[in-house]
Amino acid sequence: MSSFLVTGGAGFIGSALVRELLQRGERVRVVDNFLTGHRRNLTDVSARIELFEADIRDLEQLRPAFVGVDYVLHHAAIASVPRSIEDPISTDRTNVQGTLNVLLAARDAGVKRVVYAASSSAYGNAPSLPQTETMPANPISPYAVSKFAGELYAKVFVEVYGLETVRVRYFNVFGPRQDPSSPYSGVLSLFIAALLRGTPPTIYGSGEQSRDFTFVDNAVEATLLACTAPGAAGKVCNVATGERYTINQTIALLRRIIGSDVNPVYAAPRPGDILHSQADITLARQLLGYDPKVSFEDGLARTVDWYRTSEKLLSSAPR
Ligand code: UD1
Repeated sequence: MSSFLVTGGAGFIGSALVRELLQRGERVRVVDNFLTGHRRNLTDVSARIELFEADIRDLEQLRPAFVGVDYVLHHAAIASVPRSIEDPISTDRTNVQGTLNVLLAARDAGVKRVVYAASSSAYGNAPSLPQTETMPANPISPYAVSKFAGELYAKVFVEVYGLETVRVRYFNVFGPRQDPSSPYSGVLSLFIAALLRGTPPTIYGSGEQSRDFTFVDNAVEATLLACTAPGAAGKVCNVATGERYTINQTIALLRRIIGSDVNPVYAAPRPGDILHSQADITLARQLLGYDPKVSFEDGLARTVDWYRTSEKLLSSAPR
């Protein structure tokens, strides 16, 4: 049995990691300040985890949570492009300074490895698809800058302090427990909530922008592999499905799965929005032994099923 600390463990991806780790019989700690995470994401497992209600912006508050930990999965972040455009300073404080604090606390506690939840937004509008890890970063929003800055810190901590870190670059992770309650929420949570309620989803721009949507179980698998994969320390690795769907295609699929005839409305494109993303996942396969098990369409169906049984969550979604 190893000891894992999940920062942002009350969030969408963090709480999925917590559940899988418990399933595997590991010891689990969570750090969360409940700014965007929710207690309800951990209700069913609360007796089996150690919860540290702490803010990653405060290093001294963090330190006790790291004592005796083997692996840190750093997922605490403010995860929205438009929110970072409205308020770049708070995004920076959490995503950049917070990450630096997590790395310092991990270094000082003698943690074996930190896996950093990096973002495909680092690529910006890449010159060609699929995106490979050797392409230069080209962030086009404050959010993307902040997540990439966190990557750079993670890389430098390997070289300067000998702390093992691995950067997993997630591509649009979706699935059960993604919170649809804010206009800043992930697109699929907003679309599913709207269609299930019978209200029109909003598409920003033409809807021809595309994403490599990744079901959360796939992201969890890759992230846990990254904890122990030999040779992964110091590396950055795409975590995705390797396919892309346009926003318009996604709406069509969801309308079919849900059995909805509600039409979307179109609005102006969002500033800082990248046009296309699609990952080359060769490195994740080679380095981590990762193989995405859940296809986009199966993941969508499983996600819709989950939201159908989560009435309260749906009613909290913006109209
Ligand atoms: C997402 C994640 C980000 C992550 C990145 C790469 C969220 C909120 N953002 O960014 O944390 O680092 O993937 O993994 O989970 N859209 C609509 N209608 C809506 C909402 C969005 O058309 O109601 C469009 C957006 O304009 C965009 C696309 O859907 O083109 C995806 O948007 P969003 O879900 O916010 O994610 P990303 O910005 O791609």
